[in-house]
Amino acid sequence: MLSARRALTGCFDGVLDMFQDVSSSLGWAEKMNGAMVPVSAAEHVKMTLKSGKVPEDLSGVYLRVGPNAQHWPPKKRTHAFDGDGMVHSVRIRPGGDASYHCRFMETPRRYIFEKEMGSEWFLRVGEMQGIAGLLKIMTTGKKKAKLSGLEEDEMGTANTAIGFTPDGKLWALNESSAPFRFTLDEAGVPHSVGFDHLQGTLKESISAHPKFDQRTGEILFHGRKLPTIFYAGRIAEGKLVERVDIDMPVGGFHHDMCITENYMVMIDGAMAFTPQEAIKGKQLWTFQEDKKLRFGIFHRSKKLTQEMPWSGLKQMWQLRPLAEAVRHLGFTGIADFGVLAPEVVGRAVGAWIVHTCYAYDEGDEIVLWTPLCYYNATGLLDVERKC
Ligand SMILES: [Fe+2]
Repeated sequence: MLSARRALTGCFDGVLDMFQDVSSSLGWAEKMNGAMVPVSAAEHVKMTLKSGKVPEDLSGVYLRVGPNAQHWPPKKRTHAFDGDGMVHSVRIRPGGDASYHCRFMETPRRYIFEKEMGSEWFLRVGEMQGIAGLLKIMTTGKKKAKLSGLEEDEMGTANTAIGFTPDGKLWALNESSAPFRFTLDEAGVPHSVGFDHLQGTLKESISAHPKFDQRTGEILFHGRKLPTIFYAGRIAEGKLVERVDIDMPVGGFHHDMCITENYMVMIDGAMAFTPQEAIKGKQLWTFQEDKKLRFGIFHRSKKLTQEMPWSGLKQMWQLRPLAEAVRHLGFTGIADFGVLAPEVVGRAVGAWIVHTCYAYDEGDEIVLWTPLCYYNATGLLDVERKC
């Protein structure tokens, strides 16, 4: 019965596929000389030095994770973010010996399920385009997820970021699920373990960029459940110890946050998911010109609360990159933080942070170093050059 329902759903989805052009979704694969084209798993590849010398006592491992579609070329429209997580590892031993390995993260949803299916099954970001994409979101996308029989917090691809927890665990993170745990053997080969539900305390997804405080042993994170729920939490001693819903507009590109010794900071910027634009075949996330960058602050010594204090930013924030942006636009100061002074510009100016670099307390200020995207003075968005 289940196989018949899957076949029927797959058949209807296949009809919708006929209205979607796969090749036009793969422009990203041609960029950077094809560096983002999926690769095969590899192990024990001896690395050679092109120039210089490896320090004699250098020992450890360099890790990165990224999307790497297991079905290639794809039969479905595929966004650069859609690939299955693949961890790449360079193991360096004392004396300069280095070897390279890469392996898929064997997530139950995308990797194992679709490996057994022999093709793509779950709805991809790349498919969310046009009328056919809208129909997929409303019908087959949800249906397929349900027919997979997998838990909602295990739907992620473990393809976005690596985490190293204070209690010594390695995570491959994706904001659609709980962290996916993996280990390394002595040679540096990655081995999948499974989704980490923190001893049964974590039942939701967390963002791809939780913050690890190796000093206190805490992990602080945000997460969301589309379309309406946004939350923040605290992990200690391997368990979720605090979790609270936050009043945050969901649909924004809330990808990263930051912590300092005393504060945990949420970031709300000008980039938002706009289904209407996606349906028209435009960008999935678009710059909301009039949406101002703002920060919500929790004091780490207190319990997380539903109401985030958005006020007090003028006293608390010293945004050096923002000051740079203001100077670039030809202004001499920040009139009111959180606002690139719309009354000065003559229009509202949005700004957006994708990833933070690091943050720290300096007296009663929080200093954040971060790339910043913003509208330029002519009103044209130039994210890539200003990042
Ligand atoms: Fe990221």
